[in-house]
Amino acid sequence: MREIQKFVLISLIWLHSSLDCIIRLCYHAFIMKPQDLVPPHSRDDRRVCVHDRIWYVPMQFSQNTREPLFLFPGWDHPDFFGNNNPVNIEYCSGNGAWIAERAVRYPHINWIAVERKFDRVRKLWSKVHNLKVSNLLVLCGEAYHATEKFFPTGTIDEVFINFPDPWPKRRHTQNRLIQLPFLNQLGRVLKDNGKVTVVTDDEPHSQWLIGLMKENGNFASTYPDPFYTTDCKTYGTSYFEDLWRSQGKTIYYHEFIRHGHP
Ligand SMILES: C[S@@+](CC[C@H](N)C(=O)[O-])C[C@H]1O[C@@H](n2cnc3c(N)ncnc32)[C@H](O)[C@@H]1O
Repeated sequence: MREIQKFVLISLIWLHSSLDCIIRLCYHAFIMKPQDLVPPHSRDDRRVCVHDRIWYVPMQFSQNTREPLFLFPGWDHPDFFGNNNPVNIEYCSGNGAWIAERAVRYPHINWIAVERKFDRVRKLWSKVHNLKVSNLLVLCGEAYHATEKFFPTGTIDEVFINFPDPWPKRRHTQNRLIQLPFLNQLGRVLKDNGKVTVVTDDEPHSQWLIGLMKENGNFASTYPDPFYTTDCKTYGTSYFEDLWRSQGKTIYYHEFIRHGHP
């Protein structure tokens, strides 16, 4: 009897470790990890290009390479989305938790995640592959530069900016993404009645945004005075939203509509 028990136990252990091994093999065979991303060019050969669902928009080029010409072929080009569905942008996507969920939830909208840090672009890229979403493109580059240089006028339906770095110190103000020239660019690329949503945990940054939107003059808040809400349960979550909520912080949601183009 003891021999049978021993045999069953050994068989179970063997089965368990074999299954574990098979699961690990499948995981490594089918799941893309951020470090699997191989950029199409070396640092010395940087250029603007679209490769494997990433639009590379570098700002600096090596001394030997002049900035090569990149002609934007249109959102319906197969390198981009291959269709004429609405296009929404999320700037400052970080690791992409919020936009990946949106891309799955709204497959008939094309989504662009703009992020300048390459380690976060890698995480976004692995989400694009693992979720098999063809309606999500990652732009690896700086938000203002990419928008000004490459986004065509009046082609974007909605813009989202979730937890932009607030740069709270006065001497760092120039580092903030949300500045008048950037808002002017958003006004240019958005369609008539296109929307801008900005979410932040930083109350002074919320006031900064509201002030600049008034100054810009092309946008109207959809929320009445004080021009934000702190309750938006269906909005979706992100890494930083979870972090700030776990610390009990208030989250400020703003939404502005672009008036008609003149
Ligand atoms: C505080 S994190 C928020 C990330 C994400 N939205 C979230 O809620 O978890 C800000 C992100 O914006 C990116 N970022 C800041 N300024 C940027 C710029 N000018 N262009 C592109 N990305 C920028 C940073 O690299 C960082 O990943």
